[in-house]
Amino acid sequence: MFLRNCWYVAGWSHHFAADALVARTILGEPIVLYRKRDGGVVALEDRCCHRLAPLSRGRREGDDLRCMYHGLKFAPSGKCIEIPQQEIIPSTAVVRSYPAVEQDCWVWLWMGDPALADPALIPRALNHNDRDWFMLTGELAYDANYELINDNLLDLTHLSYVHQSTLGRNSMSWGESRPKTTRLARGLRIERWVVNHPRPYYLGVPPGSLSDMWAAYDYMVPGVFLLATKSYAPGMAADCNLSAPTAEADWVSSTSQAVTPITEHKTIYHYSSCLSRKFATEEHSRQQMAVIEKAFAEDRAMIEAQQQVIARTPQARMLRLASDGALNQFRRLMVDLVEAEQPPSAAAQAAAE
Ligand code: FES
Ligand SMILES: [Fe+2]
Repeated sequence: MFLRNCWYVAGWSHHFAADALVARTILGEPIVLYRKRDGGVVALEDRCCHRLAPLSRGRREGDDLRCMYHGLKFAPSGKCIEIPQQEIIPSTAVVRSYPAVEQDCWVWLWMGDPALADPALIPRALNHNDRDWFMLTGELAYDANYELINDNLLDLTHLSYVHQSTLGRNSMSWGESRPKTTRLARGLRIERWVVNHPRPYYLGVPPGSLSDMWAAYDYMVPGVFLLATKSYAPGMAADCNLSAPTAEADWVSSTSQAVTPITEHKTIYHYSSCLSRKFATEEHSRQQMAVIEKAFAEDRAMIEAQQQVIARTPQARMLRLASDGALNQFRRLMVDLVEAEQPPSAAAQAAAE
């Protein structure tokens, strides 16, 4: 199940060098991306309409792209504009062109009806390209369905288990936290206090130094995670009566992450780690990223193993618990949006099934 009328992260801006032809697969569709001379990103179906050769093996000619099998040339719109040894270009000589927008260091593609591609629907990543923040980036490929990764990010109690010695910091503070979930138009807002959470070791604080951490994130379709955390001296959560803090924190960080399905069985995950320069040094930023990368390898090991169990026993049913509230709401939202974009006959059939 894929949502089509939605923006998907195709990669970091730095993945798309000025002279490169980059092949990607998103929602099972082969796509070639390149930059025009003005820097704008073009995304075309990576399959020549002549004999189906990949255009990513082609040649850039100005803003156009020539297939290097038999020489058809395509404009950024996807229209064929030249056929060697042939005057007339049939109207069917065209490849699909995907709306592309570069925003917050990510290249976003709209995978549905181009007429509905509204850039205002692109979630804003936190503190990307902000000179007051350190920012490091990464990506991770998964042999798993994207919904299992969404599930993981929608229930952060797993930090105390999967990430016991990394993000969990050998504490049950994440596992015992109670999130408040609010429905947004195309996602959820999830907020909580993580009380008496150990401070990270790389701050050089005495062992056992604790903080009360406010962790708030928006989780937007199709799988965009935007988390900001603020740390305070212990006691702040109680002082705030467990609502959002207004006082200035003594440590702030953020991360933005995007889950992009390659196919039903493979996913690519792009993530940032950002720290405010007001409190952190560049070395803190490197150390935080090292912990995050170790933690994400822990997630991948667990989720890929979970995927293998599901593949071996597809009839097995999952048990719903109270802590699954956010992930169940998000899965419902995705189903509703996917159903809403089906043609009327398909929607009626889907409802009947
Ligand atoms: S396959 Fe592209 S020109 Fe023939
Ligand atoms: Fe995790």
